[in-house]
Amino acid sequence: MTEETVLGLLADIPDGEGKEYTIENDDEEVGLFVVRQGTAFYGYVNYCPHAGTPLNWEGDRFMTLDKKHILCATHGATFNIHDGVCISGPCVGDWLAPLNLRLEDGVLVLIHPD
Ligand code: FES
Repeated sequence: MTEETVLGLLADIPDGEGKEYTIENDDEEVGLFVVRQGTAFYGYVNYCPHAGTPLNWEGDRFMTLDKKHILCATHGATFNIHDGVCISGPCVGDWLAPLNLRLEDGVLVLIHPD
C-alpha cells in the first residue's frame, strides 16, 4: 500500500512563497518544502545539491526577492520553481529532488516513493 503523509492546507502557504515541513521517514527527520503559485504547487526535498544544506536561511524563506526563483541561502544558487533545476550559482544543471504531491479538499498530501 502506498504510504501518504498529510502536510497541511495549501492556503496556509502565502501565494508566491514557500513553506517548510518536516516528516519522519524510516525514523529519520526529512526536511521538505512546498512553493505555492496561485492554485499550483511545487514540492522538493529541502536539500541543496551543491553542499547538502537546507535551502532556507530561516523559517519559510525559500524565495528570491522577486519571488521568481527558489534560492539557496548558503551560497546563493537559484532554481526554477516548476522543475527545481539550478539555473545560477555553484550547482548549475543539478536539480532539487521533487516530491510527489496531490491536493485533496485543499489539503496537500505527500505520496511516498515505494
Ligand atoms: S549549499 Fe546551496 S548553493 Fe551551496
